[in-house]
Amino acid sequence: MEIAKNIKYIGVDDMDIDLFEGQYKVPEGISYNSYLIDDEKIAVMDTVDARKTDEWIAGLEAALAGRTPDYLIIHHMEPDHASGVRLVLDKYPGCKGVCTQKAAVMVKRFFDVDFADRLQIVKEGDTLQLGEHTLQFIMAPMIHWPEVMMSFEQKEGILFAADAFGKFGALSHPDSEGMAADRLHATVDGWACEARRYYFNIVGKYGAMVQVLLKKAAPLPIRIIAPLHGPVIDSDLGYYLSTYDTWSAYKPEDEGIFIAYCSLHGNTRQAALKLAEILSAKGGVKVSTSDLARDDMAEAIEDAFRYDRLVVCAPTYDGGLMPVMQDFLHHLAIKAYQNRTVAIVENGSWAPAAGKKMLEAFQQMKDITIIEPVVTIESTVKAKTIADLTALANKLA
Ligand code: FEO
Repeated sequence: MEIAKNIKYIGVDDMDIDLFEGQYKVPEGISYNSYLIDDEKIAVMDTVDARKTDEWIAGLEAALAGRTPDYLIIHHMEPDHASGVRLVLDKYPGCKGVCTQKAAVMVKRFFDVDFADRLQIVKEGDTLQLGEHTLQFIMAPMIHWPEVMMSFEQKEGILFAADAFGKFGALSHPDSEGMAADRLHATVDGWACEARRYYFNIVGKYGAMVQVLLKKAAPLPIRIIAPLHGPVIDSDLGYYLSTYDTWSAYKPEDEGIFIAYCSLHGNTRQAALKLAEILSAKGGVKVSTSDLARDDMAEAIEDAFRYDRLVVCAPTYDGGLMPVMQDFLHHLAIKAYQNRTVAIVENGSWAPAAGKKMLEAFQQMKDITIIEPVVTIESTVKAKTIADLTALANKLA
Protein backbone atom coordinates (compact mmCIF):
# COMPACT_ATOMS: atom_id res chain seq x y z
CA MET A 1 0.00 0.00 0.00
CA GLU A 2 1.31 3.45 -0.89
CA ILE A 3 1.46 6.14 1.78
CA ALA A 4 2.53 8.61 -0.91
CA LYS A 5 3.49 8.29 -4.58
CA ASN A 6 6.22 5.64 -4.87
CA ILE A 7 6.47 5.24 -1.09
CA LYS A 8 5.01 1.94 0.07
CA TYR A 9 4.11 0.54 3.47
CA ILE A 10 5.79 -2.88 3.72
CA GLY A 11 5.39 -3.55 7.45
CA VAL A 12 3.92 -6.65 9.07
CA ASP A 13 1.47 -7.34 11.85
CA ASP A 14 2.14 -9.54 14.85
CA MET A 15 -1.18 -10.88 16.06
CA ASP A 16 0.07 -13.79 18.12
CA ILE A 17 2.65 -12.13 20.37
CA ASP A 18 1.69 -12.54 24.04
CA LEU A 19 3.71 -9.69 25.53
CA PHE A 20 5.41 -6.89 23.57
CA GLU A 21 8.93 -6.19 24.87
CA GLY A 22 8.31 -9.17 27.15
CA GLN A 23 6.02 -7.11 29.36
CA TYR A 24 3.20 -5.21 27.64
CA LYS A 25 -0.13 -6.86 26.89
CA VAL A 26 -1.18 -6.22 23.31
CA PRO A 27 -4.67 -7.70 22.92
CA GLU A 28 -4.92 -6.28 19.43
CA GLY A 29 -1.36 -7.22 18.45
CA ILE A 30 1.32 -4.84 17.24
CA SER A 31 2.62 -3.76 13.85
CA TYR A 32 6.29 -3.54 12.95
CA ASN A 33 6.31 -0.84 10.31
CA SER A 34 8.69 -0.65 7.40
CA TYR A 35 8.53 1.41 4.22
CA LEU A 36 10.06 1.34 0.76
CA ILE A 37 10.97 4.45 -1.24
CA ASP A 38 11.01 3.52 -4.90
CA ASP A 39 13.20 5.97 -6.82
CA GLU A 40 16.40 5.90 -8.93
CA LYS A 41 17.91 4.60 -5.73
CA ILE A 42 15.71 2.34 -3.62
CA ALA A 43 15.62 2.85 0.13
CA VAL A 44 14.16 0.41 2.65
CA MET A 45 13.17 2.07 5.91
CA ASP A 46 13.95 -0.32 8.77
CA THR A 47 13.36 -4.06 9.09
CA VAL A 48 11.07 -5.87 11.55
CA ASP A 49 11.06 -8.19 14.55
CA ALA A 50 12.68 -11.62 14.09
CA ARG A 51 9.28 -13.19 14.74
CA LYS A 52 8.04 -11.84 11.42
CA THR A 53 11.18 -11.47 9.31
CA ASP A 54 10.26 -14.24 6.84
CA GLU A 55 6.89 -12.65 6.13
CA TRP A 56 8.48 -9.21 5.84
CA ILE A 57 11.24 -10.32 3.46
CA ALA A 58 8.62 -11.95 1.22
CA GLY A 59 6.71 -8.65 1.12
CA LEU A 60 9.92 -6.73 0.46
CA GLU A 61 10.83 -9.05 -2.42
CA ALA A 62 7.38 -8.61 -3.92
CA ALA A 63 7.67 -4.82 -3.67
CA LEU A 64 11.15 -4.89 -5.21
CA ALA A 65 9.93 -7.02 -8.15
CA GLY A 66 13.38 -8.32 -8.96
CA ARG A 67 15.33 -5.15 -8.19
CA THR A 68 17.65 -4.71 -5.22
CA PRO A 69 17.68 -1.99 -2.57
CA ASP A 70 20.49 0.58 -2.51
CA TYR A 71 20.00 1.69 1.09
CA LEU A 72 18.66 0.26 4.32
CA ILE A 73 17.84 3.20 6.58
CA ILE A 74 18.29 2.08 10.20
CA HIS A 75 16.41 4.55 12.39
CA HIS A 76 16.48 2.43 15.55
CA MET A 77 18.43 -0.65 16.59
CA GLU A 78 15.93 -2.20 19.02
CA PRO A 79 15.31 -5.77 17.81
CA ASP A 80 11.63 -5.20 16.99
CA HIS A 81 12.91 -3.11 14.07
CA ALA A 82 16.49 -4.14 13.45
CA SER A 83 16.39 -7.93 13.58
CA GLY A 84 16.61 -8.13 9.79
CA VAL A 85 19.61 -5.79 9.33
CA ARG A 86 22.15 -8.57 8.92
CA LEU A 87 19.84 -10.53 6.65
CA VAL A 88 19.34 -7.54 4.33
CA LEU A 89 23.04 -6.66 4.19
CA ASP A 90 23.94 -10.31 3.49
CA LYS A 91 21.19 -10.80 0.91
CA TYR A 92 21.87 -7.59 -1.02
CA PRO A 93 25.65 -7.02 -1.18
CA GLY A 94 25.19 -3.70 -2.97
CA CYS A 95 22.97 -2.30 -0.24
CA LYS A 96 24.40 0.15 2.29
CA GLY A 97 23.08 0.56 5.80
CA VAL A 98 22.51 4.21 6.74
CA CYS A 99 22.61 4.95 10.46
CA THR A 100 24.09 6.99 13.28
CA GLN A 101 27.54 6.30 14.70
CA LYS A 102 25.96 4.85 17.85
CA ALA A 103 23.78 2.54 15.76
CA ALA A 104 26.87 1.31 13.90
CA VAL A 105 28.37 0.23 17.22
CA MET A 106 25.15 -1.60 18.04
CA VAL A 107 25.09 -3.35 14.65
CA LYS A 108 28.37 -5.02 15.61
CA ARG A 109 27.10 -5.82 19.10
CA PHE A 110 23.87 -7.38 17.91
CA PHE A 111 25.19 -9.29 14.91
CA ASP A 112 28.83 -9.92 15.86
CA VAL A 113 29.86 -9.01 12.31
CA ASP A 114 31.90 -6.00 11.30
CA PHE A 115 29.78 -4.32 8.64
CA ALA A 116 31.78 -1.06 8.96
CA ASP A 117 32.45 -0.82 5.21
CA ARG A 118 28.76 -1.39 4.50
CA LEU A 119 27.49 1.38 6.79
CA GLN A 120 27.11 5.04 5.87
CA ILE A 121 27.18 7.13 9.04
CA VAL A 122 24.94 10.20 9.07
CA LYS A 123 24.53 13.09 11.47
CA GLU A 124 22.10 15.94 12.09
CA GLY A 125 21.07 17.68 8.87
CA ASP A 126 22.83 15.28 6.47
CA THR A 127 20.84 14.46 3.37
CA LEU A 128 20.62 11.46 1.07
CA GLN A 129 19.50 11.94 -2.52
CA LEU A 130 17.52 9.03 -3.91
CA GLY A 131 16.38 10.74 -7.14
CA GLU A 132 13.19 12.74 -6.78
CA HIS A 133 13.17 11.98 -3.08
CA THR A 134 15.64 13.37 -0.57
CA LEU A 135 16.00 12.18 3.00
CA GLN A 136 17.10 14.67 5.63
CA PHE A 137 18.33 13.08 8.85
CA ILE A 138 17.26 14.31 12.26
CA MET A 139 19.00 12.99 15.34
CA ALA A 140 16.60 11.83 18.07
CA PRO A 141 18.81 10.47 20.86
CA MET A 142 16.99 8.84 23.79
CA ILE A 143 13.65 8.60 22.06
CA HIS A 144 14.02 6.12 23.57
CA TRP A 145 17.43 4.62 22.78
CA PRO A 146 20.64 6.61 22.26
CA GLU A 147 21.22 5.70 18.59
CA VAL A 148 17.81 6.78 17.33
CA MET A 149 17.41 9.07 14.36
CA MET A 150 14.44 10.09 12.26
CA SER A 151 14.37 11.12 8.65
CA PHE A 152 12.35 13.69 6.78
CA GLU A 153 11.48 12.96 3.17
CA GLN A 154 11.41 16.38 1.59
CA LYS A 155 9.31 15.82 -1.55
CA GLU A 156 6.24 14.39 0.15
CA GLY A 157 6.83 15.89 3.60
CA ILE A 158 7.05 12.56 5.42
CA LEU A 159 8.62 12.32 8.86
CA PHE A 160 9.83 8.78 9.46
CA ALA A 161 9.53 9.09 13.21
CA ALA A 162 11.03 5.87 14.64
CA ASP A 163 9.11 4.87 17.80
CA ALA A 164 7.63 8.36 18.28
CA PHE A 165 3.92 8.56 17.44
CA GLY A 166 3.80 4.75 17.71
CA LYS A 167 0.77 2.89 18.98
CA PHE A 168 0.00 -0.59 20.26
CA GLY A 169 -2.39 -2.57 18.05
CA ALA A 170 -1.86 -4.31 14.73
CA LEU A 171 -3.08 -2.74 11.52
CA SER A 172 -5.06 -5.84 10.54
CA HIS A 173 -8.26 -6.51 12.38
CA PRO A 174 -8.31 -9.74 14.42
CA ASP A 175 -11.59 -10.71 12.77
CA SER A 176 -10.60 -10.12 9.18
CA GLU A 177 -8.00 -11.31 6.71
CA GLY A 178 -5.15 -8.91 5.99
CA MET A 179 -5.10 -5.17 6.41
CA ALA A 180 -7.92 -2.94 5.27
CA ALA A 181 -6.54 0.22 3.64
CA ASP A 182 -8.34 2.48 6.10
CA ARG A 183 -6.59 0.91 9.09
CA LEU A 184 -3.24 2.14 7.77
CA HIS A 185 -4.36 5.73 8.38
CA ALA A 186 -4.75 7.15 11.89
CA THR A 187 -8.01 8.75 12.87
CA VAL A 188 -8.40 11.10 15.80
CA ASP A 189 -11.12 8.87 17.28
CA GLY A 190 -9.49 5.94 18.99
CA TRP A 191 -5.83 6.78 18.39
CA ALA A 192 -4.94 8.20 21.79
CA CYS A 193 -5.94 5.25 23.98
CA GLU A 194 -3.30 2.77 22.85
CA ALA A 195 -0.87 5.49 21.68
CA ARG A 196 -0.93 6.95 25.20
CA ARG A 197 -0.35 3.57 26.86
CA TYR A 198 2.54 3.04 24.42
CA TYR A 199 3.99 6.53 24.98
CA PHE A 200 4.01 6.65 28.77
CA ASN A 201 5.28 3.11 29.21
CA ILE A 202 7.93 3.10 26.49
CA VAL A 203 8.94 6.68 25.74
CA GLY A 204 7.57 8.46 28.84
CA LYS A 205 10.84 8.81 30.73
CA TYR A 206 12.29 10.85 27.88
CA GLY A 207 9.84 13.76 27.70
CA ALA A 208 12.63 16.34 27.56
CA MET A 209 14.09 14.68 24.46
CA VAL A 210 10.67 14.54 22.82
CA GLN A 211 10.30 18.27 23.50
CA VAL A 212 13.64 18.91 21.75
CA LEU A 213 12.50 16.81 18.80
CA LEU A 214 9.16 18.64 18.53
CA LYS A 215 11.01 21.96 18.40
CA LYS A 216 13.31 20.63 15.66
CA ALA A 217 10.34 19.31 13.71
CA ALA A 218 8.27 22.51 14.03
CA PRO A 219 9.76 24.33 11.01
CA LEU A 220 9.53 21.27 8.72
CA PRO A 221 6.57 21.11 6.30
CA ILE A 222 5.42 17.74 7.66
CA ARG A 223 2.43 16.29 5.82
CA ILE A 224 2.69 12.68 6.99
CA ILE A 225 4.15 11.04 10.10
CA ALA A 226 5.25 7.45 9.48
CA PRO A 227 6.01 5.74 12.82
CA LEU A 228 7.49 2.30 13.45
CA HIS A 229 4.30 1.00 15.11
CA GLY A 230 0.66 1.68 14.39
CA PRO A 231 -1.05 3.71 11.71
CA VAL A 232 0.44 6.41 9.52
CA ILE A 233 -0.69 9.91 10.48
CA ASP A 234 -1.71 11.88 7.40
CA SER A 235 -4.58 14.09 8.58
CA ASP A 236 -5.26 16.33 11.59
CA LEU A 237 -1.52 16.57 12.28
CA GLY A 238 -2.09 19.43 14.70
CA TYR A 239 -4.02 17.13 17.03
CA TYR A 240 -1.29 14.48 17.17
CA LEU A 241 1.55 17.00 17.52
CA SER A 242 -0.19 18.93 20.29
CA THR A 243 -1.09 15.68 22.10
CA TYR A 244 2.57 14.66 21.99
CA ASP A 245 3.53 18.10 23.25
CA THR A 246 1.16 17.70 26.24
CA TRP A 247 2.43 14.22 27.05
CA SER A 248 6.11 15.05 26.74
CA ALA A 249 5.77 18.26 28.78
CA TYR A 250 4.27 16.12 31.60
CA LYS A 251 1.10 18.20 31.53
CA PRO A 252 -2.12 16.36 32.48
CA GLU A 253 -4.17 15.65 29.39
CA ASP A 254 -7.53 15.54 31.19
CA GLU A 255 -8.98 16.85 34.41
CA GLY A 256 -9.90 13.83 36.47
CA ILE A 257 -9.06 11.64 39.41
CA PHE A 258 -7.40 8.26 39.05
CA ILE A 259 -7.67 5.95 42.07
CA ALA A 260 -5.05 3.17 42.10
CA TYR A 261 -5.57 0.62 44.84
CA CYS A 262 -4.55 -2.78 46.08
CA SER A 263 -6.20 -4.76 48.83
CA LEU A 264 -5.44 -7.88 50.86
CA HIS A 265 -8.92 -8.81 52.07
CA GLY A 266 -11.18 -6.32 50.30
CA ASN A 267 -11.27 -3.56 52.94
CA THR A 268 -8.92 -1.15 51.20
CA ARG A 269 -10.71 -1.93 47.95
CA GLN A 270 -14.02 -1.06 49.61
CA ALA A 271 -12.57 2.27 50.77
CA ALA A 272 -11.15 3.04 47.31
CA LEU A 273 -14.46 2.30 45.61
CA LYS A 274 -16.35 4.27 48.27
CA LEU A 275 -14.12 7.25 47.53
CA ALA A 276 -14.83 6.82 43.81
CA GLU A 277 -18.55 6.71 44.57
CA ILE A 278 -18.43 9.88 46.71
CA LEU A 279 -16.44 11.68 44.01
CA SER A 280 -18.72 10.52 41.19
CA ALA A 281 -21.80 11.62 43.16
CA LYS A 282 -20.42 15.14 43.12
CA GLY A 283 -20.82 15.16 39.35
CA GLY A 284 -18.60 16.97 36.89
CA VAL A 285 -15.51 15.06 37.88
CA LYS A 286 -14.10 12.19 35.86
CA VAL A 287 -13.13 9.25 38.09
CA SER A 288 -11.21 6.18 37.03
CA THR A 289 -10.08 3.25 39.21
CA SER A 290 -7.61 0.39 38.91
CA ASP A 291 -7.06 -2.71 41.01
CA LEU A 292 -3.31 -2.88 40.66
CA ALA A 293 -3.13 -6.60 41.36
CA ARG A 294 -5.67 -7.50 38.66
CA ASP A 295 -5.72 -4.78 36.04
CA ASP A 296 -3.06 -4.02 33.46
CA MET A 297 -0.16 -2.18 35.13
CA ALA A 298 0.69 -0.38 31.86
CA GLU A 299 -2.85 0.95 31.74
CA ALA A 300 -2.57 2.15 35.34
CA ILE A 301 0.61 4.03 34.43
CA GLU A 302 -1.19 5.52 31.43
CA ASP A 303 -4.09 6.73 33.60
CA ALA A 304 -1.79 8.15 36.25
CA PHE A 305 -0.21 10.36 33.60
CA ARG A 306 -3.48 11.11 31.85
CA TYR A 307 -5.24 12.78 34.78
CA ASP A 308 -4.24 15.70 36.98
CA ARG A 309 -5.07 13.99 40.30
CA LEU A 310 -4.07 10.59 41.66
CA VAL A 311 -5.17 8.74 44.79
CA VAL A 312 -3.16 5.74 45.97
CA CYS A 313 -4.78 3.33 48.44
CA ALA A 314 -2.86 0.46 49.99
CA PRO A 315 -2.81 -1.71 53.09
CA THR A 316 0.26 -2.12 55.24
CA TYR A 317 2.08 -5.34 54.44
CA ASP A 318 5.16 -6.72 56.20
CA GLY A 319 5.69 -3.30 57.77
CA GLY A 320 5.63 -1.61 54.37
CA LEU A 321 3.73 -1.80 51.11
CA MET A 322 2.08 -4.58 49.19
CA PRO A 323 4.57 -5.42 46.42
CA VAL A 324 2.11 -4.48 43.68
CA MET A 325 1.81 -0.92 45.04
CA GLN A 326 5.60 -0.77 45.39
CA ASP A 327 5.80 -1.81 41.76
CA PHE A 328 3.31 0.86 40.67
CA LEU A 329 5.25 3.58 42.52
CA HIS A 330 8.51 2.28 41.04
CA HIS A 331 7.00 2.46 37.56
CA LEU A 332 5.88 6.06 38.20
CA ALA A 333 9.34 7.03 39.46
CA ILE A 334 11.25 5.56 36.52
CA LYS A 335 8.81 7.10 34.04
CA ALA A 336 9.47 10.54 35.59
CA TYR A 337 5.98 11.03 37.01
CA GLN A 338 5.62 14.68 37.99
CA ASN A 339 3.46 17.78 38.10
CA ARG A 340 0.36 16.15 39.62
CA THR A 341 -1.72 16.31 42.81
CA VAL A 342 -1.67 13.15 44.94
CA ALA A 343 -3.74 11.91 47.87
CA ILE A 344 -2.88 8.90 50.01
CA VAL A 345 -5.11 6.35 51.75
CA GLU A 346 -3.54 3.65 53.91
CA ASN A 347 -4.86 0.71 55.90
CA GLY A 348 -3.34 -0.93 58.95
CA SER A 349 -4.54 -3.23 61.71
CA TRP A 350 -1.79 -2.64 64.27
CA ALA A 351 0.97 -0.37 62.95
CA PRO A 352 -0.06 1.43 59.72
CA ALA A 353 3.07 2.16 57.67
CA ALA A 354 1.84 2.17 54.05
CA GLY A 355 1.01 5.90 54.06
CA LYS A 356 4.52 6.86 55.11
CA LYS A 357 6.06 4.63 52.44
CA MET A 358 3.85 6.05 49.71
CA LEU A 359 4.50 9.62 50.88
CA GLU A 360 8.25 9.00 50.78
CA ALA A 361 7.99 7.70 47.22
CA PHE A 362 6.14 10.81 46.01
CA GLN A 363 8.52 13.13 47.85
CA GLN A 364 11.26 11.85 45.52
CA MET A 365 9.25 12.94 42.46
CA LYS A 366 9.18 16.40 40.92
CA ASP A 367 6.37 18.93 41.47
CA ILE A 368 3.99 16.65 43.33
CA THR A 369 1.41 18.37 45.55
CA ILE A 370 0.29 16.10 48.39
CA ILE A 371 -3.21 16.54 49.77
CA GLU A 372 -2.97 16.35 53.56
CA PRO A 373 -3.68 14.47 55.71
CA VAL A 374 -3.06 10.86 54.77
CA VAL A 375 -6.33 9.00 55.39
CA THR A 376 -5.89 5.96 57.62
CA ILE A 377 -8.38 3.09 57.55
CA GLU A 378 -8.28 1.10 60.75
CA SER A 379 -8.81 -2.43 59.39
CA THR A 380 -12.33 -1.94 58.00
CA VAL A 381 -14.48 0.81 56.52
CA LYS A 382 -16.53 2.42 59.30
CA ALA A 383 -18.46 5.65 59.78
CA LYS A 384 -15.21 7.48 60.60
CA THR A 385 -13.57 6.15 57.41
CA ILE A 386 -16.48 7.43 55.34
CA ALA A 387 -16.26 10.81 57.04
CA ASP A 388 -12.51 10.95 56.31
CA LEU A 389 -13.03 9.87 52.71
CA THR A 390 -15.77 12.50 52.29
CA ALA A 391 -13.42 15.17 53.59
CA LEU A 392 -10.71 13.92 51.21
CA ALA A 393 -13.18 13.93 48.31
CA ASN A 394 -14.05 17.56 49.06
CA LYS A 395 -10.38 18.51 48.87
CA LEU A 396 -9.81 16.45 45.73
CA ALA A 397 -12.80 17.83 43.88
FE1 FEO B 1 9.66 -0.26 18.65
FE2 FEO B 1 12.11 0.95 20.59
O1 FEO B 1 11.34 -0.27 19.49
